[in-house]
Amino acid sequence: MTHKHSDYMHWSKTQSRARFNLATSGVASFPLRELPVELDTLEINGYDGYGYPPLQKAIATHQGVDPECVVEHAGTSMANHLAMAAIIEPGDEVLIEHPAYGPILDVARYLQADVKRFPRTEETGWVIEPNAVRDCITPRTRLIVITNLHNPTSALTPDWVLREFGDIARSVGALVLVDEVYLDAVYERTPRTSFCLGPEFVVTSSLTKVYGVSGLRCGWILAHPDLAWKMRRLNDLYSATPVYPGLLLDVAVFKHMNRLREKARRIVDADRKLLQDFLVKQAGLSAVWTDWGTTSFAQLEDGNADDFVERLRTKFDTSVVPGRFFGMPDHFRIGMGVNTEMFAEGLERIGQVLSQAD
Ligand SMILES: Cc1ncc(COP(=O)(O)O)c(C=O)c1O
Repeated sequence: MTHKHSDYMHWSKTQSRARFNLATSGVASFPLRELPVELDTLEINGYDGYGYPPLQKAIATHQGVDPECVVEHAGTSMANHLAMAAIIEPGDEVLIEHPAYGPILDVARYLQADVKRFPRTEETGWVIEPNAVRDCITPRTRLIVITNLHNPTSALTPDWVLREFGDIARSVGALVLVDEVYLDAVYERTPRTSFCLGPEFVVTSSLTKVYGVSGLRCGWILAHPDLAWKMRRLNDLYSATPVYPGLLLDVAVFKHMNRLREKARRIVDADRKLLQDFLVKQAGLSAVWTDWGTTSFAQLEDGNADDFVERLRTKFDTSVVPGRFFGMPDHFRIGMGVNTEMFAEGLERIGQVLSQAD
């Protein structure tokens, strides 16, 4: 039977809500009323071609690439799906990092790829060792998939490691898919997209996590022109034409994106400071520290995080993401950047459950 579901998405939609919701990965919603856009310039119908030129140009400028390389799609979710569907055939070997964002694995399985995993480890600060990939690559490998920043840990993969990935992929004629949806949450010296590192790279991203406009579903793929064209043709089978008022709003967001990013950044920075102070005080909890990103992956020294997370939600109205969704049941993910008062109270409640466990 083909794999046709995502346990993580199901949990996220049905069980992650709580008064103190630290199960997030994106920043607070940016309200429409704060976006300088004339609502009477919106229209319902207006474009049904292959890539709305003003949006393609805005994405291309933001990423520093040629507009021909930009394929728009609904969020990073559909960007990942379309990119993988265009690249892999049933039975192709696909190497995916562990731990990984569940839906990436689900899509690869749905496409009937032969999924193999390569590890990131806590000991190396969750940064991938090129040898971990070298050890499992074979002539059947068609695609290597990573997230950068890494979900759930926010580890940043440096360019020299990414370049080695490119070399490894090239040696067997494979590609490297880098999901960069969190990369702009490196607020200082934001790295350039890995798409610029060589022809093996395909990149996905969106405005959903770092800019607070998830509801617009503005996502995209960066791919070399031939592959980008193949993706556009395949998309005729998926969503055919885009939501036109959405395209107009996406373009408006790109015009003011620094305003959106800076607004969110203030909350992310304040939450990160609280998290740092909190972790220092918690003997039963540890996490690899990063100065960027919207999530942190904490390890519970003692016991199963599932029980902990369940108690936290049912008794303390606070949610975090159980590590089992990343294949690491003694961890859980904490999200920053929504509301600092809520975050502080959520941490306080995590502390209470931890102290009860002593
Ligand atoms: C690594 C990663 N990729 C993609 C997505 C989905 O993003 P979008 O909301 O842009 O579809 C998420 C959401 O959590 C994610 O963590």
